[in-house]
Order: sequence, then structure tokens, then C-alpha cells
Amino acid sequence: MSQLSSRHLLGIKDITSDDIQLIFETADNFKEVLNRPIKKVPSLRDITIANIFFENSTRTKLSFELAEKRLSADVVNFSSSNSSVKKGETLIDTVNNILSMKVDMVVMRHSSPGAPHFLSRNIKANIVNAGDGTHEHPTQALLDAFSIREKLGDVAGKKVAIIGDILHSRVALSNIFCLQKLGAEVMVCGPVTLLPKHIDSLGVIVEHDVQCALAWCDVANILRIQLERQQIKYFPSLREYSLYYGVNKKMLDTLDKEIVIMHPGPINRGVELNSDVADSEHSIILHQVENGVAIRMAVLYLLAGVR
Ligand code: CP
Repeated sequence: MSQLSSRHLLGIKDITSDDIQLIFETADNFKEVLNRPIKKVPSLRDITIANIFFENSTRTKLSFELAEKRLSADVVNFSSSNSSVKKGETLIDTVNNILSMKVDMVVMRHSSPGAPHFLSRNIKANIVNAGDGTHEHPTQALLDAFSIREKLGDVAGKKVAIIGDILHSRVALSNIFCLQKLGAEVMVCGPVTLLPKHIDSLGVIVEHDVQCALAWCDVANILRIQLERQQIKYFPSLREYSLYYGVNKKMLDTLDKEIVIMHPGPINRGVELNSDVADSEHSIILHQVENGVAIRMAVLYLLAGVR
């Protein structure tokens, strides 16, 4: 197989395990390119890509832009905070105006779940979901699984605990789909109030004790408390959350094995993760960020092939 099964990347739910393997193999090649003195290839020389971000981002936005530039695409960046969205322009009008400037692909982050799916039904360009509300963040899950594969040799058969605010996390859902498609066992761990009610129907193990989760897993992917999405109080205070669910070095020292620590960023240091773990030899957090560029190059390159 040398082509993806879809012309968009809307979510991991919609792609196959063969698609994921193809993305990984392509990313392996681009990672090799990124380690050369000249990091640029002409693969997308005639393609124009618009990065349209309706929500804040550091890693995803920069990583897509770098990936596009490394592939020699023409790039335009749109941020809703200083755009005509502030004057009342709709999503579809905004995007159609951008597309009328002969844009081929759209990378979009939006706070509404399903916004990229809506776009994909209404416009001709390839769409890449860079995070839609609390729904999916497919390229994050791909770079996370790619980083596990790089560190542990394979994803199949590995035990991955996703710890923290699962309820508000698009990273959690995309990771669950991606890891399961690749044959990993997945556990979710957090306080009852931060786990969706029927999460077990996705075939994940549910745990509320973080020390038990750490003892079970090979990899702990620790998620941020997303206060910006919380309209009510889900726990008494950040101090209390940190006391019961914050991961620190003392907890890792009690384990009889080494585990891999991941975090998609941005980290709330001292809340869900202490610096003595985030900056330790257990952590592959900055490798995740590095791999994000190769993964996004692979996704864009492959989608350009099914235009
Ligand atoms: N991991 C992630 O999506 O980070 P940003 O919000 O900074 O893009």
C-alpha cells in the first residue's frame, strides 16, 4: 500500500491500521531527512497550504508550518484572533475566501468538535484536523505512538496508561483509537469526575489510583488539566488534584521497573507532572515534539498523493 485510504485526516477513528503503518514508514524517511544538514525536500513544491487556527497553539502550529516548509510547500497562516472572524464572518465564508486564493490543503484547529468534518463536506481542499474541541487530535496521537515505537521498538503488546483530565481531552480519544489499532492495551486513569461515563465501552481499562496505573503500565501519557474547558469544578483545588494525581519522582522510585513518561504539552508543572519527572531520563516529551515534524510531513505528503 502506498496511498492513504482517505483524502482527509479528520480523526484516527476514520483511518486504518495500514494507514497508520504507512504514515510511520513515511515519517521514518522524513526523520532521516530532518537529520541531514539540508533538511528540505521538493515534494510539495506546487502545493499551497493554509494553517487556520481558531484556538491557541504552540507545538502543533509551529510543527505543521515547519513540516510544510521542509516539504517546500507555499504556506499561509491564519489566526482567528486578528481576523475578520472578529467582525462576525462565518467558518465556511472564512475558509471559502482563503480557498479562492488557490489553496490546496487546509490544516485547521477549532474549538467545535466536528468543525473539520463539516469543512470536508463543503469544500474541495484536503483537510487535516489539528484538534477539534474535546473530540480528536489525530496528528498528536500519531506522533505519540510513533515515539513509543521509537523508544520501545513496537507499540503492539505494550501497556499504555493515559492519566489525567480524560473528559476534556481530544488527545486521549485519538490516542485510544491509535494505540488500540496498533495492538496496545490502554488504561485511562483519573478522578471519577474527569472520566467520561461510558469510557469502558471503548475497550479501555478504567483505574482511579494513579500509583496502580503506574505499576501496570510500560508507558504513562500524562495529560493536562484543561481548566479553560471546565465550566464547573471537577475537583476541590489544583493543590488537591496534584496531591492525588500529580506524578512525581518518588512515585516512580517505588516501581520495580522503568516506565516511559509522555506528555503532549503544554505541561502544568507541579500539577499533573512534577519537573523531577518531566525533565528526567524517563521522559520522552521533547522527542514527541521532535517527531511531530516528521509525522506531519508524512501526513501532508501522503494526503497530497490522494488529491
Ligand atoms: N500538544 C499540543 O497540541 O500542543 P499545542 O496546543 O501547543 O499545539
